[in-house]
Amino acid sequence: MMCYEIEGGRRLCGQVRVSGSKNAALPILCAALLNDGETVLHHCPAISDVAQACRILKSLGCRVKRQQDTIWIDAKDAFEAPLWEEMTGGMRASVLFLGPLLGRFRKAVLGKPGGCAIGKRPIDYHVAVAQALGAVCREENGCFLFDGSNMQAGKVVLPFPSVGATENAMCLAACLPGKTVICGAAREPEIYDLQQFLKAMGVRIQGAGTDSIWVEGKEISTSVSYRVMPDRIEAGTLLAAAAVTGGKIFLSDSDWLTMTGILPFFACCGCQISVKGAEVGLKAPKRLKACPCLLTKTYPGFPTDMQPLAAALLTTAKGTSMIMEQIFENRFHHCTELNKMGGRIGCSGPVAVIEGVRHLKGTTVCASDLRAGAALMVAGLGAEGKTVVTNGQYICRGYAGLEKKLAALGGRVRLMESR
Ligand code: EPZ
Repeated sequence: MMCYEIEGGRRLCGQVRVSGSKNAALPILCAALLNDGETVLHHCPAISDVAQACRILKSLGCRVKRQQDTIWIDAKDAFEAPLWEEMTGGMRASVLFLGPLLGRFRKAVLGKPGGCAIGKRPIDYHVAVAQALGAVCREENGCFLFDGSNMQAGKVVLPFPSVGATENAMCLAACLPGKTVICGAAREPEIYDLQQFLKAMGVRIQGAGTDSIWVEGKEISTSVSYRVMPDRIEAGTLLAAAAVTGGKIFLSDSDWLTMTGILPFFACCGCQISVKGAEVGLKAPKRLKACPCLLTKTYPGFPTDMQPLAAALLTTAKGTSMIMEQIFENRFHHCTELNKMGGRIGCSGPVAVIEGVRHLKGTTVCASDLRAGAALMVAGLGAEGKTVVTNGQYICRGYAGLEKKLAALGGRVRLMESR
């Protein structure tokens, strides 16, 4: 078990680099399984979810090496093997192996995926994607067994623009001969990044970023090198940390074009935002302003992954804010913890109403999931005294050296082993 210890009340200033995106790196690592050849991925974040994806690739016969932010995968000798729940249970993104496994080997056995406890998170859309392309699926003892011997290219219609189901559809279609169209696709920038990776492997694919994606599948056997996009949620987290401390920071290696929804939110709270090339700057006001109505939406709306961070910020903003969570049904655990620090948040179903208080007070709080944990760290940076965030291992799943980045900006943050 890990915990973060934070001494609040220090203004964050300076410049910091944004790491590669977790939510782009994970599907791309899974898609490397499609390549009967060598893949080199640059700018992969050093997080435990990426380490777990590498372990799964190894269990499927891939050779995997890592040097700093670069991961080398040789999937020439890969084979089909069941991914039991011991492998899949720790991480939601393990479901992203479905498309690559079924596409390459026409067979897949997948245990229930785990991941953050932010809602029911079923995998029915993923199953429907495989079925739409001709696979047969049955559930046995909590495992999903897929037979893809009769699969062929065709049409996939998603009932909701699910990020993961779109990624699985793209990977499946990438190795089915013929043309597949994916309708109702998610439009997140990470989908575009996966498209660019598949293109780099020679797949003809277009449309990512819109709700229709066209794919012409083929056997993939190539040497490919690709750089993962910057993490827009990590970028937003660092901006939130600066904003809550009245600070002024610059992010380098970021991509503001992918931060629609996020940057306007900070502007709405009274922060000055500047963008220039790959740099994003934020200067916080003396006191943040409330945001009367913040709704989480699919891209290009305000992302659900930033919602806990927004809640942390609005807890000390001047005035009353309202947040409506529209993507996950159970993503307000952080509010209970923020209230322990002196916040005044009332939650009912998908709505949280936040009465801004002047100051939060440090105490021991518990991270229930990745972004909730990051939100409590941000709150701790702005609070009086010491905050301890327990269950810090959730934060390590998705942030690469967050404590080091915050310390480089002048924050007092330590990551420690806890009992
Ligand atoms: C991706 O999860 C991200 N994870 C999540 O990041 C992010 O919160 C989410 O997209 C939404 O943007 C990765 O990219 C690895 P969805 P994913 O399928 O693909 C429901 C983070 O903190 N649904 O778009 O799992 C689902 O329950 C996280 O970095 C079904 O009902 O999200 C949710 O309510 C956590 N059936 C909604 O759709 C399905 O088969 C959106 O989920 C699939 C999803």
